[in-house]
Amino acid sequence: MESEERIVSPKKRDDDRALDLSLRPRSLEEYTGQTHIKETLGIFISAAKERSEPLDHVLLYGPPGLGKTTLAHVIANELGVNIHSTSGPAVERPGDLAAILTNLAEGDVLFIDEIHRLSRTVEEVLYPAMEDFALDIIIGKGPAARSLRLDLPRFTLIGATTRAGLLTSPLRDRFGVINRLDFYAVDELVAIINRSARILNIDVDPHGAQEIARRSRGTPRIANRLLKRVRDFAQVRAGGRVTRDVADQALGLFRVDPLGLDEIDRKMLSMIVEKFKGGPVGVETLAAAIAEEVETIEDVYEPFLIQIGFLQRTPRGRMTTGAAASHLGLTVEAAANGAATSASSSPAPGSAARDGRQPRLFEG
Ligand SMILES: Nc1ncnc2c1ncn2[C@@H]1O[C@H](COP(=O)(O)OP(=O)(O)O)[C@@H](O)[C@H]1O
Ligand SMILES: [Mg+2]
Repeated sequence: MESEERIVSPKKRDDDRALDLSLRPRSLEEYTGQTHIKETLGIFISAAKERSEPLDHVLLYGPPGLGKTTLAHVIANELGVNIHSTSGPAVERPGDLAAILTNLAEGDVLFIDEIHRLSRTVEEVLYPAMEDFALDIIIGKGPAARSLRLDLPRFTLIGATTRAGLLTSPLRDRFGVINRLDFYAVDELVAIINRSARILNIDVDPHGAQEIARRSRGTPRIANRLLKRVRDFAQVRAGGRVTRDVADQALGLFRVDPLGLDEIDRKMLSMIVEKFKGGPVGVETLAAAIAEEVETIEDVYEPFLIQIGFLQRTPRGRMTTGAAASHLGLTVEAAANGAATSASSSPAPGSAARDGRQPRLFEG
């Protein structure tokens, strides 16, 4: 539903495309944060270059907007090779993948986004390609069929996924390097915002950058998008300069609360608190209740809410925490003790929870 319109959606939107091209870091040095990944990858890249060998296959996983695609391009750039990009759903038949593989040059990077969505038959072509740099082709049909092995150039596969858990184990096992990207700290997001502001020529003061960073859900893509929107607000309403006050007013207007939650987050959380007394509630029930897909909830909404300690995944379902309830302006008791108090079934008039809004957050 509203997810297309969400300003804080970490998913890529059409208007992000042009932004991505100008703001995407090109080198490991420009790539902010993820220090451990950068350090280890830097070593593997140098070693591979010194030996004139291709880099081991790399799997990057983590929530959308954290820099997986960017990092794949950075790796290819650092290796000094070409990158060929495709995605799981785009490679429909084994022949499609065979065509891509035979077009690679020695040492090239093949980037497969959403790699968990490759079909089984396509995946099977990938196994010998990854392991032996070979392509097995079946010629003929029935009893006359024989298999022919073709050599491929030695290449590096970089796979990206929001769901490492959905990868089959034979595929996962063929990656030599597996990295999970984490949410970014506020100071890292501040650095990203300052860099973007320089590139886009936006006048942002340090407090303004800090305010945007705090509301960016630990996600560079959201930080860049909020920066752009706040710039518009500053230009029209505040003479162009982004200060804390201007950022606060703009983000309040766009309904992004001080923690970066939007209406849908608040609706989902307050529903668990109120209708399900803090949970546990199954994700399917939750999806039906807020009219979203299970996959969207799991990939897009939940990871950040779990990260900030508002939501817990338990074997019996999702549960909200006391911190979530108090952020929503609900009494902690209503969330913690499942007892059917009148407070949890019918919020007091003016309670922020009723429509999932928190008026206090949007004052000014
Ligand atoms: N480490 C980083 N440093 C600076 N900018 C980043 C970083 N990671 C991501 N970005 C910015 O966020 C945007 C989204 O990143 P992207 O690589 O497309 O995320 P993902 O592929 O994980 O969904 C990029 O266009 C880039 O501008
Ligand atoms: Mg991506």
